[in-house]
Amino acid sequence: MALSFVTSGQSHGPGIVAILSGLPAGLRPDRERLQRDLARRQAGYGRSPRQAIETDEATILGGMRHGRTLGGPLSLIVKNRDHENWGAAQSAWPVTEEELAEVHARRTRVVTVPRPGHADLSGVMKYELPDVRDVLERASARETSARVAVGAFCKDLLDTVGISVHGHVVRVGSVETPRRDDITAREFREMGERQVGCLDADTDAKMVEEIEAAKKAQDTLGGIVEVRAFGCPPGLGSYASEDWRLDARIAGAAVGIQAMKAVEIGDGWDNARLRGSAVHDELRYADGYKRDTNRAGGLEGGMTNGEPVIVRIAMKPLPTLMKPLKTATLDTHEPAEALVERSDTTAIYAAAVVAEAVIAFELARAAHEKFGGDAIGDFIAAHAHYLDRIPWSPA
Ligand SMILES: Cc1cc2nc3c(=O)[nH]c(=O)nc-3n(C[C@H](O)[C@H](O)[C@H](O)COP(=O)(O)O)c2cc1C
Repeated sequence: MALSFVTSGQSHGPGIVAILSGLPAGLRPDRERLQRDLARRQAGYGRSPRQAIETDEATILGGMRHGRTLGGPLSLIVKNRDHENWGAAQSAWPVTEEELAEVHARRTRVVTVPRPGHADLSGVMKYELPDVRDVLERASARETSARVAVGAFCKDLLDTVGISVHGHVVRVGSVETPRRDDITAREFREMGERQVGCLDADTDAKMVEEIEAAKKAQDTLGGIVEVRAFGCPPGLGSYASEDWRLDARIAGAAVGIQAMKAVEIGDGWDNARLRGSAVHDELRYADGYKRDTNRAGGLEGGMTNGEPVIVRIAMKPLPTLMKPLKTATLDTHEPAEALVERSDTTAIYAAAVVAEAVIAFELARAAHEKFGGDAIGDFIAAHAHYLDRIPWSPA
């Protein structure tokens, strides 16, 4: 059974649900990691006060017993604690006339001023919805809480075959950390507390200043996150069909995250300016095939090539501004100011955690396609057999 997932739920509804299908039976998920990843998604300098209201927790609804997966779809819910403050405004079923009048009387419960840069305007047109809130409740990145939970289970699966996935922030606005090719998995594991999620502590401190300045100006910031995966054997994904290509899947998953607008694999943008001799990573043989450089970012021919997978993703500045941009109302089409709602100055730290999760899913899916197995032991045995067969060993 192929690994797949779906999420459901709105930002201020009862919760965000995820159903992850295809995990082998017998996997022992790491409960602490699940909790830690959900907490990391809420962390980071520049987040809105909402993150303090919600302490996310995933409740498992099905697919596990006594700490082991059972082979069936795994379902979970991350409850929205803010839901209780919304009453009739978030009722799934029709509400009374009086309740509706109350909903309309409360500022921002019904939204008629679409925000530039958000899903608001095209969303109401596409789905013939009367209220921007019908759009933004689902377009909101609150949904990523469930994707992060899915990613945590995928990391558990990848752990069993020695693959780890780590995200960090490499740029916020104009502050960028120097590019390094020699980062190890250990550095990520030992990273310690960071306010913005940058591996380099000095740059992290400069990023805080950049965010503080944007916040004072009632503005928002984007940035770049980088995800590195270590321990991937050559041959996850395939060149054989365009939708089997792991680079394509990873790029799709990356821009499938709200606000992500560009993806770079390895030194993709720089490589486009150079000659082939300065780009392609030369091969040598020493107890297995090796490369001394990794400009390809671990992906060649739509497959992992045995080097660390390196993906950079650019996030645009968030569209909800405390000093609102110009818009026009949905009802009268008069000029107006866009919706101002509690919002982040930047969510770049969270973006790194979400990026880590969606790439973990894509790697887990590709690994499960390669090694198969309804039971975790079969998956691990197939991986071991493959490593015995190929001239490659993990660094
Ligand atoms: C983790 C995360 C948190 C976000 N928080 C906000 C926010 O507080 N305010 C906001 O306007 N946009 C936020 N966004 C971005 C919007 O969800 C996104 O810009 C919007 O859905 C429109 O989609 P698009 O930018 O992909 O075109 C966030 C995105 C992510 C990944």
